[in-house]
This record gives sequence, structure tokens and C-alpha cells, in this order.
Amino acid sequence: MNIAFAASEGVPFSKTGGLADVVGALPRAVAALGHQVSVYLPRYRQTKLADPATVVRSITVPFDDEYRFPSVVSGGIQGGVRFYFVEYPPYFDRDALYGTPAGDYPDNAERFALFSRAVLEASKILGTPHVFHCHDWQSALIPVLLRTIYADDPAFKEVGTVLTIHNMGYQGLFPPDTLPLLMLPWDLFTMSKMEFFGQVNFLKGALTYSDYITTVSRKYSQEIQTAEYGFGLEGVLRDRASTVTGILNGVDYDEWSPQTDKFTVTKYSPQDLSGKAKDKQDLLAAFGVANADPKLPVIGIVSRFAAQKGFDLIAQIADRLAREEMIIVALGAGDKAYEEMFQRLNKQFPNKIAVKVAYDNAIAHKIEAGADMFLMPSRYEPCGLNQIYSLKYGTVPIVRATGGLDDTIEPWDARTGKGTGFKFTEYNGEALLKTIKEALQAYRDQTSWQALMRNGMSKDFSWNASAREYGKIYEKVRLMRSPVSVAEKSMVSVPS
Ligand code: ADP
Ligand code: GLC
Repeated sequence: MNIAFAASEGVPFSKTGGLADVVGALPRAVAALGHQVSVYLPRYRQTKLADPATVVRSITVPFDDEYRFPSVVSGGIQGGVRFYFVEYPPYFDRDALYGTPAGDYPDNAERFALFSRAVLEASKILGTPHVFHCHDWQSALIPVLLRTIYADDPAFKEVGTVLTIHNMGYQGLFPPDTLPLLMLPWDLFTMSKMEFFGQVNFLKGALTYSDYITTVSRKYSQEIQTAEYGFGLEGVLRDRASTVTGILNGVDYDEWSPQTDKFTVTKYSPQDLSGKAKDKQDLLAAFGVANADPKLPVIGIVSRFAAQKGFDLIAQIADRLAREEMIIVALGAGDKAYEEMFQRLNKQFPNKIAVKVAYDNAIAHKIEAGADMFLMPSRYEPCGLNQIYSLKYGTVPIVRATGGLDDTIEPWDARTGKGTGFKFTEYNGEALLKTIKEALQAYRDQTSWQALMRNGMSKDFSWNASAREYGKIYEKVRLMRSPVSVAEKSMVSVPS
């Protein structure tokens, strides 16, 4: 089949979080199954292209006020996947992808509507796929456009859509007059389509119009159908429950493995863990705490700093945590409030909590390799990738039992020698502290700790199995859109 991915970020061209890792790796795994795969991304200032070639010179995108004319450049073929970039410098040649620390760019609706329309128009020239695979709110207009403005376009008659939800916390909410601005019909502004508490909701549009909906872990696919995790869209998801499924993300072990990592000082493996001590030393030096006792367990954090990630729990217990025999090294950037919180903790406990407020891929790798434990106390976590990377590096995850964290980490049981990490359920500081203490206690018995490390290192979360699951969904969607099944459906709905 011919599958076109449309997303707002993808490694190695652009990244703010795990979505980019997925868009960098899943298409390759789908192509390896024998499908023809292309990926459409915006061309941002940070997108580096070796040999860009313009393949569509000018696409006309009508807006209420004027026409805009993006173009499409080819980024060539990588790993059997063809990459295309929507180029429109006024929208994408900016400092950041979605906004500045002061907030989102005010024209994000226009930016990603233009992207979505350009993808559809470009595909008419470059090849319409059997299925558009869209990701999060930024490409959520594609299914909406296909079933409204483009509903009668013969080029898209049999084209299906899959939406993958990577995060329900970001829905693309805009004022009602966004619809006429984007030339979208007003009848979308109803509760059963895109209206959401008086605003236009891009993600809701895709939940309404996609043929199939996936999310990135089994547990999260259930959670988002409840009020606690659905961010107001749980009802819409429940209505579509028969076409909602959870497929766990894989990880790219070419990038994330202690045996081949380009950013670490030594390589190590489950057979020989000795190199990890050097990586720990290197990590402590990178955080300016090289004099720390190397026997102290190091707890690593790599994260976007956002409410989702649960770091307010650390602040709740900081005094008592700082009394424990350990060091925290945290790398993250994002919400000012959390950046400042970590900087405050660092000032208060300089020997215990070291912090780098930055986005730095090399340091992220050093933490995976050099830390003894990895902390993700997320309030919610659709999948989470760092805990899966951590397993491969023998860096034992301490996680809250939610979403993909719950699906990927099995609790350690010293008696049976089974399990890969430590989990807590209640979202409060006490539960977190108790679990960290349990992990620190387990660390004291280095023989069983190494068994725990090896349990994690032996897990395989590569993409192959998940790509096959996506393959089955593409097949279903193609069948749903085939002329025979469409004709059957219309026969059923025609009153006799
Ligand atoms: P999310 O997508 O919610 O941010 P994930 O765990 O799925 O969470 O993925 C996060 C990805 O972004 C990982 O590849 C992680 O290494 C990377 N990352 C997050 N924050 C940073 C940072 N401050 N510096 C470098 N890499 C980061
Ligand atoms: C999101 C989620 C994260 C997930 C990633 C990739 O950003 O927050 O849990 O791993 O997308 O699917």
C-alpha cells in the first residue's frame, strides 16, 4: 500500500518531543514491511536538508483574506522513506516550532491549516496515498478537509485516514472565526463535529472524521475514554470506541543503545556492564558534580518541563528527598514555572539536585547511559519513550503507573528476581517518595540490582511488531474506503 504520514515534527529534521522520534522511526518500519511510504513535514528554520529539490513550485491555499502560496521540497529518500517538506517561510522560518516561552504563536491555526492543505494538494501531484496517517492536532485538519471541502474531489475518493493521538492535552483550540478564515464551512461548528465549549477544536475534527483512531499505548487508549484523562473529549472517543485502538510505540535502537551510542564515553552490554561506571563519571562531570561519591546512586530526568510530567511531586517532597543518599541530575526545558522550580531546588540542595535547563540531545544520551535510575512521575503519559530507552541502558525506571509507563514497566520483585522497575499509582508526593526509597534500598544489594538491570536490558521494544499492527489498520481502512464497501454502506442507508 501507499501510506503518507503528515506530522508537525520528525527526527532528524525537527523535534520537540517523542512525536518526532515516532515520525522518524515508524515510517521506516512500515516501509520495511513492503509498503510505499512518504512523510510530509513543515520546513522549519531548524530543518537541515542536505540537497533540497523543489518538487511542487507553488500551491494555492485560499484564506479568507488572501491566497497563500507554499511550495514543497523533497528531502530525498532515507531508510526507504520519501520525505517532503512544506515550505512557507512566513509561517515556518521561525525560532521555534510552536511558540516561544511566552506562549503559542498566535497564528498556529493558519500555520497548520496551510500545512494540511498543502499536503493534500501536493499529494495530487506527487501521488495520492491509500491512507493518510495523521498525528495530533497539527495535521488533524487533513481528515476534516477530505470529508468536507475535498469530499467531491475524485483524486481522494478512495483515500482513507488514520489519526494517531500522541497527547490529548494538546487539541488545537481556536476562536470560532477561525473557520471562515480557513474557508471551512460553518456547519462544522456543531457539538457533533468541531465545536468545543464555544471554540473550534482541530483534534475533535479528526476524532469525528478519521476512519480509524489510534493512540500510543493500550492503557492510554482506555484512559482517554474516561473523564480523568480525556480532556473533555472522552465522550467523542467513547462514541467511536470500535475504531479506537492502542498500539505501543517502539523505539529506535540504532539511536538508543549503550552498545553503539555516539554520545557516550564507553560502550557496554548486558554481558559486560563495567563501562557504565565511566559513563556515570562523565555524566557527573557534565553536571558539574564530578567530585560526588561514585557509589551514590544517580537518578536521571530528561523531559519537557510541563504539568503532564508530574514534577510538582518532587517539589512536595524535596526536603526529605534531599536527605536520601542519592543525586538527581535533571535535563529539561519548557514551562517557566518548572524551569524555575528546578533551579530553586538546585540552589537549595546543590549537592543533591543538579539541573540543566536546556534541550540537549547529547546530554539526554549521557543521562540514559550514566544514571542508575530514571524518574518519570507523570500525571499522565500516552506512551513515554525515555523509560523504554532507560531499560535498554540498564537505567532502572521509577515511574507512575499511568498510560505507556504502566504498560512498559513491570514492578521489581526481589524474591522472584522478576521485573524491570518501580511504580507508584497514587498521584502524590508521599507515594513518589516511598517508591524512590524502595529503589534506593534495592540499589544497596548490587548483585540483585544487576539482575534487575539485565531484566530491562533484555526487553525488546523495537518497531517491528507495532508497525505490523499499523499495517493491519491501514488494511482495514483501505477496505472501508474501497468502492465495494462504500457502495454497500450507501445501500444500507438508502431508505427503501
Ligand atoms: P514527550 O513526547 O511527552 O515529550 P517522550 O518520552 O515520548 O515524551 O519523548 C521525549 C523525547 O524528547 C525523548 O526522545 C527525549 O530524549 C527527548 N527530550 C525531552 N526533553 C529533552 C531535553 N530537554 N533535551 C533533550 N532531549 C529531550
Ligand atoms: C507525546 C506523549 C508521549 C509519547 C509521545 C510519542 O508527546 O506525551 O507520552 O511517547 O507523544 O508518541
